[in-house]
Amino acid sequence: MTQHTTSPSEPRHLSGESQGYQHGAFAHRTATELDRLLTLQADWDTQTKYVVQRLHPERSWDCLELGAGAGSIARWLAMTCPGGHTIATDLDTGFLTGNLPDNLHVLRHDVTHESFAAGSFDLIHARALFVHLPARQQILTKAAGWLKPGGWLVIEDPDVFPALTSPHPLFCKAALAGAELLHRTLGTDLHWPRTQPAPLLQAGLTQPGLHISIGTVGDDSASHRLWQATFDQIRPALLRENLLTPDEAAELDALVGSPTFRDACLATVSAWARRTHHGR
Ligand SMILES: C[S@@+](CC[C@H](N)C(=O)[O-])C[C@H]1O[C@@H](n2cnc3c(N)ncnc32)[C@H](O)[C@@H]1O
Repeated sequence: MTQHTTSPSEPRHLSGESQGYQHGAFAHRTATELDRLLTLQADWDTQTKYVVQRLHPERSWDCLELGAGAGSIARWLAMTCPGGHTIATDLDTGFLTGNLPDNLHVLRHDVTHESFAAGSFDLIHARALFVHLPARQQILTKAAGWLKPGGWLVIEDPDVFPALTSPHPLFCKAALAGAELLHRTLGTDLHWPRTQPAPLLQAGLTQPGLHISIGTVGDDSASHRLWQATFDQIRPALLRENLLTPDEAAELDALVGSPTFRDACLATVSAWARRTHHGR
């Protein structure tokens, strides 16, 4: 089975594009969203830090964390680069509170419509953000312009491709149903991350790199907990949209909860590239 088994559909609820996110299944006001974001951080932070460290961050770097969510990476960047400034943005900055490093600045900012001055940052990082942005290539190109000469853009997103080859047809169907739901309601494309690093090159950047890891489910791993938290949160919408029947949802719970079930779920695709030293 391939991604083409989904019927193409036009995204809905996208008036003003970014507003779709704030009214969809992952809106911050959803009671379980903060816990889901903490689960995402627990699953992804190790890979993000590994990828960024490969770029040899310097203490003086100015960094931008787009769509910072609950902020673990924004905090880490600020502490890794204490001589520079880190800006953490989000549509909703309500989770970016508490004890923040002095050089971390929180900014309510919509990357779809707002900008930064050209040549401002040594490092721009965005995780689980671009996959949800309908005009993602245009915004990627805009963000590339905010880099200083030699600066790095690091984009990390989930791709559904591992689940599509599942030997369990119901698991595959549920993964496709989730991808279709997010596409319809947010404009998300869970097949786009696999196309990296081409979008970064198309944005005019050079020296691309790629790191992909595949999460597992059924084993109480961090990736399992993220999959389960996400599935539980989108389940009502999947049923409402008739993408899964109540019987299928119950069968899926039994399958994933069975002691012998193990499978691949989502891939975490990390891609990076940089602006040339002479500013391209
Ligand atoms: C799935 S969460 C990921 C959070 C964080 N990057 C992480 O990986 O832990 C996506 C975040 O992007 C934010 N977001 C969505 N659309 C945005 C936009 N147009 N501009 C800025 N932030 C946005 C959401 O509010 C949410 O906090």
